[in-house]
Amino acid sequence: MTLIVRAANRIAATGNGLLDHSCRVAILVADVLEREPGLAEGIELRDVMLAAFLHDLDKTNWPEDYFTKPHYLLSHGDHSVIQAHPLIGAGLAQELGVTEIIRVLIEQHHEHRNGNGYPRKLADPHPAALLIGACDAYAACLEPRVYRPEPLPVFEALREASKVGCEVTVRILEKLGEDYRKVASFCR
Ligand SMILES: [Fe+2]
Ligand SMILES: [Fe+2]
Repeated sequence: MTLIVRAANRIAATGNGLLDHSCRVAILVADVLEREPGLAEGIELRDVMLAAFLHDLDKTNWPEDYFTKPHYLLSHGDHSVIQAHPLIGAGLAQELGVTEIIRVLIEQHHEHRNGNGYPRKLADPHPAALLIGACDAYAACLEPRVYRPEPLPVFEALREASKVGCEVTVRILEKLGEDYRKVASFCR
């Protein structure tokens, strides 16, 4: 409990929509698992949700520019720091006292099934990490950004999710439709 409060406090203090995003990804993951629990087989729902809530914990250390500038205006060094956030965030979460599976899921939330993800280009990431990654990609597309105030269309959000998650996850995200909008307004 202390861990969640400490992390939430840190995420909220960061601003830039990070708390909304973290809550939204955790709620989306729970919504998908409610319909298809097998996507995180053998893991407690609360652990997957906590990993989803903490997935971007290292962004609490990011300078403002990383949130506000489009990626093409950032340097090569900036991109290296950005790509390290799953690894560093997993370490921060470990320091806060999360279990090993939560640490692993945070570390792998930007890995892809085809080995094109980061930071380790894993060929076979944990299925629950792919679920978190798909919900993350979907939510990110539908959230406003300083450099892109309007959300992207839903079909693009689903396409981004499909680069990470399995077909079942994407189909559920598609079906959530209206529910997602409820989640979005609840978190705002
Ligand atoms: Fe991330
Ligand atoms: Fe994220």
